[in-house]
Amino acid sequence: MSAMDQLKQIRFEAQAAIEAAASSAQLEQARVEHLGRKAELPNLLRGVASLPPAERGSVGKAANQLRKELEAALETRQSDLERAELDARLATDVVDVTLPASPVVPVGRLHLVTATRREVEDIFLGLGFRVAEGPEVEHAYYNFDGLNFNSSHPARLWTDTFYVSEDVLLRTHTSPMQVRAMELHAPPLYLIIPGRVYRRDSDATHTPQFHQVEGLAVDEDITLGDLNGTLTTFARAVFGDERKIRLRPHFFPFTEPSVEVDVSCFNCRDGFVRDGSRCPLCKGTTWIEILGAGMVDPNVFEYVREFGYDPDRYTGFAFGMGLERIAMLKHGVTDLRLFYDNDLRFLEQFG
Ligand code: PHE
Repeated sequence: MSAMDQLKQIRFEAQAAIEAAASSAQLEQARVEHLGRKAELPNLLRGVASLPPAERGSVGKAANQLRKELEAALETRQSDLERAELDARLATDVVDVTLPASPVVPVGRLHLVTATRREVEDIFLGLGFRVAEGPEVEHAYYNFDGLNFNSSHPARLWTDTFYVSEDVLLRTHTSPMQVRAMELHAPPLYLIIPGRVYRRDSDATHTPQFHQVEGLAVDEDITLGDLNGTLTTFARAVFGDERKIRLRPHFFPFTEPSVEVDVSCFNCRDGFVRDGSRCPLCKGTTWIEILGAGMVDPNVFEYVREFGYDPDRYTGFAFGMGLERIAMLKHGVTDLRLFYDNDLRFLEQFG
């Protein structure tokens, strides 16, 4: 076969392969096969020098022209294929913007402890109290000494309290903020302090971490009657308008007198429920304990006297309640640990 016939044959086969290529990969294969290092045309080009001189010029020229022609055909086919591939992708990847967004994102809700804290805050804000917060890692001074705890009080034991060092601990109640608040603000003072507290306790009604809300009111002429009225308003706002409260004598190192406060049961009539059995909530007593309180002990004022708290001029009341306890009573939750298990079946019932 003459060199010119050979070129015709190459053109015919290469053009057919380029046109038949249905993807970039197949086109690349055609390029390697017909223009690659080992292909027939480059081979022929390399051999031009050894042709008889009469053929050299025309064959060399024709072979070079064919190479350019095939390269151009490859390029054209390449861009055709790319366009077709893009069109195909656009056709299949199409997004239907009229479909509903999916999955539908569920609406979250407040944790029952958060919801209860906000409810309590709202009630006291309405009574003219302000809301403050304080450190959970606390000095023993604020947690105990400044609150008139004697040096051998059992709550100080490492078996009851989480210590960070000898003088630093995880606060066991929100009461240390009474002292801190009085150091920062001169009277009159009307404050509630919600926050986390820590005790070495764990069972159905105790968790190592729980929440309290502290209350503190200091002014001239504050009496136990003011405490009674304030907590009656609180109890009615949370548990219903017909509620009564009662104050029972108790002891706390930092209040004198000290009381425990009960709310009249909202689950029964005279201690009995509908079917005639004893009320499980108040155990038939018609009263439910909700918090501890009392009149600020003058000994506590002595610790903050230099900040404007003269015990002969000012009196005050304080109270402290467990937020989880309030939520459990109000919503009939029977196990405190449910608050911290993060089981959605529990959490989704509230809020
Ligand atoms: N801090 C007390 C407790 O944790 C409650 C309390 C607060 C009592 C304020 C009296 C006054 O038990």
